[in-house]
Amino acid sequence: MTRRAVVAGVGHYLPERVVPNSEFEARLDTSDEWIRSRSGIERRHFAAEGETTSTMATAAARAAIADAGLAVDDIDAIVLATSTADLTFPSAATMVQAALGMERGFAFDVQAVCAGFAYALANADALIVSGQANRVLVIGAETFSRILDWTDRSTCVLFGDGAGALVLEGREGTGTSADRGILATDLHSDGRYRDLLYVDGGVSTGTSGAVRMQGNQVFRHAVEKLAQTAEDALAKAGLTPADVDWIVPHQANIRIIQGTAKKMGLPMEKVVVTVQDHGNTSAASIPLALSVGKARGQIREGDLIVTEAIGGGLAWGAVVIRW
Ligand code: UT7
Repeated sequence: MTRRAVVAGVGHYLPERVVPNSEFEARLDTSDEWIRSRSGIERRHFAAEGETTSTMATAAARAAIADAGLAVDDIDAIVLATSTADLTFPSAATMVQAALGMERGFAFDVQAVCAGFAYALANADALIVSGQANRVLVIGAETFSRILDWTDRSTCVLFGDGAGALVLEGREGTGTSADRGILATDLHSDGRYRDLLYVDGGVSTGTSGAVRMQGNQVFRHAVEKLAQTAEDALAKAGLTPADVDWIVPHQANIRIIQGTAKKMGLPMEKVVVTVQDHGNTSAASIPLALSVGKARGQIREGDLIVTEAIGGGLAWGAVVIRW
């Protein structure tokens, strides 16, 4: 018997305010046409005043717990991927813990920027497989609208806010790739690429700063590294791209998503795409896409899913899940 971290529930939260590309045309030298054709983004959600990463994460967590048919008392741990925690500390995860009324267990944040959800899944999987927790809420939540430079057209049109969550539950499997649950993970980072994508603020500056990105350089790394990590994760599970039902990629740019699918030899019909509606929500993009993909009727129990993401660090990785 092999312990597996199985998806028991999924949910998401998007702020009410939807901002179409046309809103940027009025105040920047940009166009709906440029944003759509270069990134695939048509609109994004921005948090309202008073909404934060932890409030959105809490809403997504409640939806995932309800979807699993569980109660807050059933949850042993919270792993929250974010680069936009409400405060420097405490962690957004402990704020979610308090907001849910969860008085036991433990909660912590994982910071791997856009790759954060892959890192969070790998951590949650390890906690479950090692027996340290049985039911783990894994959340990706971001409020990038609070760290954007609204005068920088090369970044501010790309990002959005939101949150998605999974409940993972420990169950016994057979040890084969037919099992439901997380089948393999593959994580990487290379800190030499720090300057390609970073926020120019933090504790060392006394400001929260704004996103700075050399977009075309990140693009080059993304296309090269994402297909490789996805194929490596599949190989660890004894699988190949031909076994995949759905690629659920980080939603940064439709051209990166298409390039990765092509490299893996898979058609776009096997890719869950939400970038047009959400923009790049960093660590929230994969759980949002999983939740929306399930709600659309794309993702069904038993489907083989590979998620992949890359972002600041650079940090990247992939996770293979049988839903
Ligand atoms: O999630 C974390 C990981 N991040 C990513 O994966 C993002 C990866 N990068 C990208 O998605 C793309 O590189 C972008 C969408 C950011 C940019 O697309 P690109 O095709 O790589 O364009 P570029 O950066 O090479 O810029 C092309 C031109 C430049 O003008 P010049 O120098 O050719 O005259 C930019 O100044 O487009 C210009 N430009 C814009 N024009 C209109 C940059 N931003 C805009 C804009 N509107 N918003």
